[in-house]
Amino acid sequence: MQTNPFSESEIQTFRAETSGTADRIHLNNAGASLPPDVVVSTMVDFLQEEAIYGGYETEAKYRKQLDYTHHLIAQLINANVDEIALVENASAAWEIAFNGLHFQPGDEVIVSEMEYVSNVLALLNAQKLYGIVIKKIASDAYGFFPLHELEMAITNKTKLIAVTHVPSTAGNVLPVAAIGEIARKHNIVYLLDACQSAGQIPLDVEAIGCDMLAVTGRKYLRGPRGCGFLYVRKQMLERLRLSYFDGRTVTSINEQGFIVRPDARRFEWYEKNPAVILGLQKAVEYALNIGVERIWQRVEYLAAFFRKQMQEMLNIEIHDMGDVLCGIVTFSVVDVPAAEVREKLAAKNINVHIGKAPSTLYYMNRRGLDGIVRASVHYYNTEDEIKLVCKELQAITK
Ligand SMILES: Cc1ncc(COP(=O)(O)O)c(C=O)c1O
Repeated sequence: MQTNPFSESEIQTFRAETSGTADRIHLNNAGASLPPDVVVSTMVDFLQEEAIYGGYETEAKYRKQLDYTHHLIAQLINANVDEIALVENASAAWEIAFNGLHFQPGDEVIVSEMEYVSNVLALLNAQKLYGIVIKKIASDAYGFFPLHELEMAITNKTKLIAVTHVPSTAGNVLPVAAIGEIARKHNIVYLLDACQSAGQIPLDVEAIGCDMLAVTGRKYLRGPRGCGFLYVRKQMLERLRLSYFDGRTVTSINEQGFIVRPDARRFEWYEKNPAVILGLQKAVEYALNIGVERIWQRVEYLAAFFRKQMQEMLNIEIHDMGDVLCGIVTFSVVDVPAAEVREKLAAKNINVHIGKAPSTLYYMNRRGLDGIVRASVHYYNTEDEIKLVCKELQAITK
């Protein structure tokens, strides 16, 4: 039962404020959502000012407003402003955190089977460089994350628990707070990939108990491309090695050495695209104004509605399993390659994505999946859109 669901007029307002919803059914929100118009106009206006007044001069004029981005992000995840670094994307955020740890041969890293390709590559690289041991925890036959297996996998060599809240190509949600409880109980560093959950599911780093969290801007947060953020708990800051430096990293430098700045912005580059930062800020503000709790209810509802419609259709195989399912809906059309499904839907102005095995390698390999259709809903989608998509899918199955 939904509490305080969006009214029809609220949904129409969200759509009116999102030009992209006019002529297209966008079900690739797990790829990149349609941004609200205010995100785009904010960036365009800023770029125009830069072109006329100069990049540094415009940045100086907007300095305070740009810095406000960290505050809003901190609010979004219940963190402290000093614990947020703006980076280019979620892969960058995750890898800054992961590669910042000091691994020794034999150190164990426990991961979920839902890790994204960037995370898997970084893990394999650390295996090669330092001899870490990667332990994977697979979901059970019902798609549940087995917490007892996680607990059993922990030894005195466990250095890190790293899991993904919402996978790239599966609809389940991992019990991240329960995982955090286990991590805390055993005093193990906990890194969370919240790339697909930020903007979709409420995030509270205190309730989750993670030490680091990686997010991108363009997915469920509805921000621009090329932005993301890393959260690092204050107590973790000094435990992470810095792998790159520029003037932004330090508070002072002389010929003998330097002093690293005390906050998480030590992980930022000086040079960024301020227009994109302001766009991200507007997107976060937009989500906060609506309320992520309400967004999550709507996304859960729409995705369940979509799966139910498809369950009643012949020759559609839904792949999502688990106790909590999110806006990412994955399926195959029997005997029709995913690329063909995507093309046929695209011809009707419907955007979906194809999930290939490497994107979520451990999970896809275990399930024997490759080239599945990923249709990801957001709160601005409608039941009518979903019915239309199902009608088109029905035609594809015939
Ligand atoms: C679960 C998950 N983690 C990380 C990433 C990487 O995000 P980015 O492309 O912003 O680096 C993705 C991208 O699809 C993802 O789905």
